[in-house]
Amino acid sequence: MTAQIIDGKNFAVALREKVAEHTSYLKEKHNITPGLAVVLVGEDPASQVYVRSKGKQTIEAGMNSYEYKLSADTSETELLTLINQLNADTNVHGILVQLPLPEHLDEALVINAIDPAKDVDGFHISNAGLLATGQKAMVPCTPLGCLMMLREYCGSLSGLNAVVVGRSNIVGKPMAQLLLKESCTVTIAHSRTRNLPELVGGADIVVAAVGQPLFIKGEWIKPGATVIDVGINRIEQGDGMTRLVGDVDFETAREVAGAITPVPGGVGPMTIACLLANTVTACCRSYS
Ligand code: GUN
Repeated sequence: MTAQIIDGKNFAVALREKVAEHTSYLKEKHNITPGLAVVLVGEDPASQVYVRSKGKQTIEAGMNSYEYKLSADTSETELLTLINQLNADTNVHGILVQLPLPEHLDEALVINAIDPAKDVDGFHISNAGLLATGQKAMVPCTPLGCLMMLREYCGSLSGLNAVVVGRSNIVGKPMAQLLLKESCTVTIAHSRTRNLPELVGGADIVVAAVGQPLFIKGEWIKPGATVIDVGINRIEQGDGMTRLVGDVDFETAREVAGAITPVPGGVGPMTIACLLANTVTACCRSYS
């Protein structure tokens, strides 16, 4: 069997179009423009690329984009003051503080200072708790994008065995909560799990978010399973060049799986599209 390739780029284009339609409706009917504030502390090159891309796509979707670039030596007090200003600003419906933060800043403290209603990353403990208890939450963007693609490819997820490899607060844990909500039987595995090939072999759905290149092998995968690869790892090719690979050994997995996301072009493009969708959601909820 050769797997269907799940085209995250196409999915993201369709979702961004939907977001743009909602945005123009809000403008025309209610004179409201959703606004997303992105805060970047320091000069991490990868973060700068992400933030630029977020700003561009926010504007393309018809929303207001507010960017705050702070120096790497910004104090916690200065950052918290900015977050409080953004919390109070009625033109700002979503706030994202780009991670990772410089080491002298307490990430949890900063994230939990964001108004949970504007927490479009879904990282605030209130949103994590709401999601864990099956209530209306802001859902982290990457797992939300994965779920949208899974629903499209699997239809109903009810009763399926899902293995999530990775236990981060940003992907693994919320992904597991979302799949549980869909009535999957969910196992959270991680880098220390002992019988991983066996667990993966029993899964109808595999979500790989462990952060280790080519970690999950095709021979572990159940024939016909749907494989979602969240990993983005840069590896040496041997000729002095590097290439991006996922946490799944794509070339062997595609021979066994029913459907699989590639890296790049799978989960990645969906994350920003879901951020835009969360911003529209936060905007609508703020008026309801
Ligand atoms: N850094 C890398 N990805 C993300 C993300 O989705 N949200 C935030 N806040 N920081 C990130």
